[in-house]
Amino acid sequence: MTGSDPSGARQANEGQVPQSVRWIGGEDGHLEILDQTLLPGRREHVVCRDVATVIEAIRMLRVRGAPAIGIAGAYGLVVAAGEAMRAGLAPEAARGHVLAQAEEIATARPTAVNLRWAVERSLAVLATLPSQSLPQLLAGVLLAEARGIHEEDRRLCAAIGRHGAAVLPEGGVLTHCNTGALATGGAGTALAVITTAWEQGRRFEIFADETRPLLQGARLTAWELCERGIPVTVLVDSAAAHMMKSGRVSSVIVGADRITAAGDVANKIGTYGLAVLAEAHRIPFFVAAPSSTFDLSISSGDEIPIEERAADEVKRPQGVQAAPDAAAAANPAFDVTPARLVRGIVTEHGVIAPVTRETIAEILSRQT
Ligand code: MRU
Repeated sequence: MTGSDPSGARQANEGQVPQSVRWIGGEDGHLEILDQTLLPGRREHVVCRDVATVIEAIRMLRVRGAPAIGIAGAYGLVVAAGEAMRAGLAPEAARGHVLAQAEEIATARPTAVNLRWAVERSLAVLATLPSQSLPQLLAGVLLAEARGIHEEDRRLCAAIGRHGAAVLPEGGVLTHCNTGALATGGAGTALAVITTAWEQGRRFEIFADETRPLLQGARLTAWELCERGIPVTVLVDSAAAHMMKSGRVSSVIVGADRITAAGDVANKIGTYGLAVLAEAHRIPFFVAAPSSTFDLSISSGDEIPIEERAADEVKRPQGVQAAPDAAAAANPAFDVTPARLVRGIVTEHGVIAPVTRETIAEILSRQT
């Protein structure tokens, strides 16, 4: 079910950019998701009163970006408890329903670790409640946790912006995919670094990769920056090498969907290519991500599951035929950049540099 913004009023969280995810009402309320597949053309919301709608929104990238899908997943558990309430389930059946739906939500997309992280964080709180707790109590506790995760992410984004702006070199900056307010609960990760530096009065060219096949850079990053009145230049993905060689790009900064204990970084397809190009042109390549994006249970990027999406996203972008039906298309949604190509990882605790197992462990153990 969709509905356009009734008053046209913006739910501003940062500057002029609306929130990607909102909980409306109390524990019997619902989740509202800004449908990012329609941007920049239309601003409509998906109203989620059942878990199936939440999962569809995550799978179809109506809500997307690692931190934002984690937040949506946490609210998704409240939706599950709401289903149990409305169905009049007894305490144990209600908890069983939430646990079963939690697994469905956590596996809706495989690469961004934030989704499972947020679901498991909420389930850990649920586990502290007595087994006879009524569904309404489950919903209330899950809502408090989801709101906590959401608010925490807003603060983490602000800290990432500050730490990153301090190390962002002078000159043009290139970013990939969308890592702004739409992708998080706050100002973003890599995009927050760029906008924080801009708000500090620094002036530089900002290049947004188009980001094939779903155009998160052209549709979403460019839209966010334009909404905020910050000039942006959209590039086709294949222009990056030329822009680096011609000296207009002095640094690259991207977000992440999962970072291993050794610093290998999974992010939107095309990121690895940018890192290789940056090394070839002696340009620093930075990653910005909150601690919830680190998966310290794995060491090598080879262990990160890479989401493979439908061939039609490549063959029929935006519904327009771009390749013969008879052709096959590979559509890996993410790739992995080895730690050795990353100059620094900007987190809410500070900047990890050089990127080694030891510096990661040291910076992540810091209190903010
Ligand atoms: O497929 P998407 O649009 O969810 O991919 C998003 C990215 O790859 C982002 O760079 C990443 O999640 C970081 S968002 C702050």
